[in-house]
Amino acid sequence: NEGSLWGGRFAGGPADALAALSKSTDFDWRLARYDIAGSRAHARVLHRSGLLTDDELTGMIEALDRLEADVVSGDYVAAESDEDVHGSLERGLIERAGVDLGGKLRAGRSRNDQIATLGRMFLRDHARLISVGVLDTIDALIAQAEAHPYAPMPGRTHLQHAQPVLLSHHLLAHAWAMLRDVQRFIDFDARAAVSPYGSGALAGSSLGLDPNAVAAELGFDSAAWNSIDGTAARDVFAEFAWISAMIGVNLSRISEEVIFWATKEASFVTLDDAFSTGSSIMPQKKNPDVAELARGKSGRLIGDLTGLLATLKGLPLAYNRDLQEDKEPVFDAADTLELLLPAVSGMIATLRFNTEKMAELAPQGFALATDIAEWLVRQGVPFRVAHELSGEAVKLAESRGVELWDLTDEEYAGVSEHLTPDVRTVLTTEGSLRSRSSQGGTGPDAVAAQLEELQRQLAPV
Ligand code: ARG
Repeated sequence: NEGSLWGGRFAGGPADALAALSKSTDFDWRLARYDIAGSRAHARVLHRSGLLTDDELTGMIEALDRLEADVVSGDYVAAESDEDVHGSLERGLIERAGVDLGGKLRAGRSRNDQIATLGRMFLRDHARLISVGVLDTIDALIAQAEAHPYAPMPGRTHLQHAQPVLLSHHLLAHAWAMLRDVQRFIDFDARAAVSPYGSGALAGSSLGLDPNAVAAELGFDSAAWNSIDGTAARDVFAEFAWISAMIGVNLSRISEEVIFWATKEASFVTLDDAFSTGSSIMPQKKNPDVAELARGKSGRLIGDLTGLLATLKGLPLAYNRDLQEDKEPVFDAADTLELLLPAVSGMIATLRFNTEKMAELAPQGFALATDIAEWLVRQGVPFRVAHELSGEAVKLAESRGVELWDLTDEEYAGVSEHLTPDVRTVLTTEGSLRSRSSQGGTGPDAVAAQLEELQRQLAPV
């Protein structure tokens, strides 16, 4: 069989069940163009080592170019009998260049170093594509923050009202997490930019080929220093899957908030029609499906990572066929995020915030109690005492069914002589926010400075 890369030592062909099990063209075909790029680079090092004549190199490159055009146009596709993308493309090459020339290309390389290299090429390209999607999401968050620089909202811990914060501050918190994801892909790329090509099956090549020339042609920084590591390591795949899962988790966390914000009870946001869905039975429904799909798909991304790690665990060095299972998880992670990110960034960009409702709720639920305690500290009261006194004011307000600013001067004086009418300066959302002015705080000036710093860190990525 021409699509097979082995057979000499076998008396017969593989059982149908084995052939079906072994076949990977359904998913590895998407690496075809990387495979052909690798073949061109490999042909050049064979030529440089004197293993291809000038004419043979020209013929080889010309046949590879034709093969690539046919792959791109769809005229050349994997045959039923092809085991994997490498075997199929060798068949295609031989069909175009003849067996005497086409049969020379395989010298000094193995599918083991090929697949490890092509995988890294795929991951590096998709790390960039996904990063663009994450950056678009960050841009949507920044645009919303800039559109609402002074809008307060209830800041929460344990989902309970905690302290008022600026909506812009809250949105930028998500942006920082996403910026770190982009920075992670940049760090990842430094490790992924090492080419396993030249590692052969596991031990390198005896043909005097230059792995660094192949690496350079394929856009890598250098060739692997250890051929066993080159062919057996998949930590770079796992790192990509982890960063993808982390992005999924970050998208899921903001999505969960959007889902909550869009409830009747919260009514903090209205979703744009273009990013909501209806119900087949309930005519009034407008559902946050984008956010729910993001939340759901984060589970899938975590599955891609854990599945891959489970495959790697317990694998002895060097190559084992288990490693054929490395591709689908990372392909799925890339596909999932490339589908998801434009929808999530679009949803965020088109959210309409009900700033009045958010501002009204921001100080409620005794969210200014910390401000009272810190005001007392500024009057010289020890924090332990201040905390107790502010707590007593909360207890009193709660028993009367009012908020802290509804207590009278006499009631405050009754709690403590320290609680003079001046305490009212911090009993407003605005006063509370303005006082949180140091780096990282939610005060308007601190948030403006934060946005500048965020933009500064975004500039180089
Ligand atoms: N298709 C394999 C993979 O994806 C590469 C082939 C290596 N096969 C082998 N028998 N050494 O990992």
